[in-house]
Amino acid sequence: KSAKNIVAGNWKMNGLVASLEEIEALATLIDTSAAADCDVIVCPPYTLVCSLAAMKKQKILVGAQDCHVAVSGAHTGDISALMLKDAGASHIIVGHSERRADHGETSALVHAKATAIYIEGLKAIICIGETEAERDNNQTEEVVLGQLKESVPDDATPENTVIAYEPVWAIGTGKTPTVEDVAEIHTAIRKALINRFGDVGAGFSLLYGGSVKPSNAKELMTAKNVNGALVGGASLKASDFNGIIEAY
Ligand code: G3H
Repeated sequence: KSAKNIVAGNWKMNGLVASLEEIEALATLIDTSAAADCDVIVCPPYTLVCSLAAMKKQKILVGAQDCHVAVSGAHTGDISALMLKDAGASHIIVGHSERRADHGETSALVHAKATAIYIEGLKAIICIGETEAERDNNQTEEVVLGQLKESVPDDATPENTVIAYEPVWAIGTGKTPTVEDVAEIHTAIRKALINRFGDVGAGFSLLYGGSVKPSNAKELMTAKNVNGALVGGASLKASDFNGIIEAY
């Protein structure tokens, strides 16, 4: 695999500034166990981006979970990629299915957000994935490749973009696709990237997300064209997150 191995933790709306000591302890544990051949990214809620970055953990890259398309302006409640860069983030997740579902975000908007991220010189973690109904309807590949095409900008490169495949029905449910299914869809994503970007398409890191835990990480991550994981629930506990990192 020529793409870089990455394990990213998405804390979602969990973690309080009040528990900074616990967060420091968790970050220290992750930092000391992080494998050399695997990038570790931790994406806390906005309120903790600055604090986590200030902890200056050697092996932890700090990410955020979303951003606005504009650099600044009258957008109450929003945060720009520039502000996240200023706070110490290097990566920003966009197009997570929870944003698509809770806030009606479209692939066109995700595309615009990724562009805003590139402008700041940051890296986008672009999420795609089918719902259970779409899977039952045998539309997995059509939906996933459609989202990939529409969400990923033409100037995406393996340096500025990570793709995360997350089947919506596997998120937070304890259910996962079979390793064969994961390999099949990741291979379809890889082929689509090579068709569009040429040989460079082989260099994009493709992450699997959805109920990844220490006990299934090794199997899922050795699937063809899987270069790592985007982890939700299990990233909140150092022992679990470390177990996943150690799967490399
Ligand atoms: O961004 C992470 C995913 O939504 C996966 O969440 O590991 O809790 O299933 P989960």
